[in-house]
Amino acid sequence: SERTLIVVKPDGVQRGLAGEIISRFERKGFKLAGSKFMRVSEELARKHYQVHEGKYFYDRLVRYICSGPVLAMVWEAEGIIAMSRKMMGATFGYDAEPGTIRGDYSCSKGNNLVHGSDSVESAEFEIGLWFDEGELVSWEPANEHWLRGEKD
Ligand code: GTP
Ligand code: MG
Repeated sequence: SERTLIVVKPDGVQRGLAGEIISRFERKGFKLAGSKFMRVSEELARKHYQVHEGKYFYDRLVRYICSGPVLAMVWEAEGIIAMSRKMMGATFGYDAEPGTIRGDYSCSKGNNLVHGSDSVESAEFEIGLWFDEGELVSWEPANEHWLRGEKD
């Protein structure tokens, strides 16, 4: 089913929020397909944020995502892209609603703790950029049946 790239950004790792962020996706019922704790190279950062190339904050954005280790993950569920974007909240921490990850833990503009793909196309592009196919795991959670119920 649908997959998305979620990255706990350097501020999220440094502030000890990686577990909290994983926990929210885990409790929602999303399935983890892969993860790695890593430093982001400038090359990866520039490609990942290529849609923002030329914007005034692009260089700062690249510096930020490279400024410390990150936890990159692939999560899976039907409709996960829209759901995970809602759970992250608005882009800027000070705009994000309470109850969302950014709304609960960030007051910043740029330092907003977490990245999530924003469309099926960008998810495919980003997962291919960050992960080799062999790093992704396909598995059946034992509680799968209880998570969705009968289809309408
Ligand atoms: P990501 O999940 O990180 O892609 O965030 P997003 O999809 O909510 O926002 P978007 O892709 O538009 O921007 C990517 C990142 O650039 C944001 O998460 C911010 O860290 C940063 N950013 C976006 N717009 C601005 C801006 O106007 N000023 C600054 N300083 N940073 C920005
Ligand atoms: Mg984005």
